[in-house]
Amino acid sequence: MWKIQHALTKLYFAQLNMSQLIVLIVISLFCTTAYADKQARGKQVAFTFELGNCLACHVIAEGDSPGNIGPELKALPSRFRDKVQLRTFIWDATQFNPYTSMPPFGKNGILTAEDIDALVDYLWTVP
Ligand code: HEC
Repeated sequence: MWKIQHALTKLYFAQLNMSQLIVLIVISLFCTTAYADKQARGKQVAFTFELGNCLACHVIAEGDSPGNIGPELKALPSRFRDKVQLRTFIWDATQFNPYTSMPPFGKNGILTAEDIDALVDYLWTVP
């Protein structure tokens, strides 16, 4: 907490003028919206038949008519070390289990790298 206060005090003494402050606020708003957009895209990829279609095999919160070939996708931060490991799994699940029925979404070019990143950001937040 003291670090934030320290940073704020520094900002105060830096005497930013109004336009500099506005630029800072706009940048921070942009970052927040960009992150929310990415998660929304991730959800779309997971739920859309023509994209990831993860619902065909996985229960995911808020998803309609899921399949049950794979486990429910929830609390993934407790299943994977970090987002990189989760991304590696989605990229090519056969690295973890050569006989898996889960398609290698990245390796086989089923999804783009950007969409897999969005998926990871979204799935990481599903409780
Ligand atoms: C054809 C069925 C199928 C589809 C489609 C599928 N999966 Fe899977 N998935 C599985 C199976 C089966 C497992 C169980 C692990 C294994 O087989 O290695 C699994 C496991 C997982 C796991 C590990 C879960 C855990 O708790 O260990 C994640 C994460 C995952 N899938 C993400 C996805 C995502 C994201 C998509 C959509 C892009 C997707 N899966 C699409 C079949 C599927």
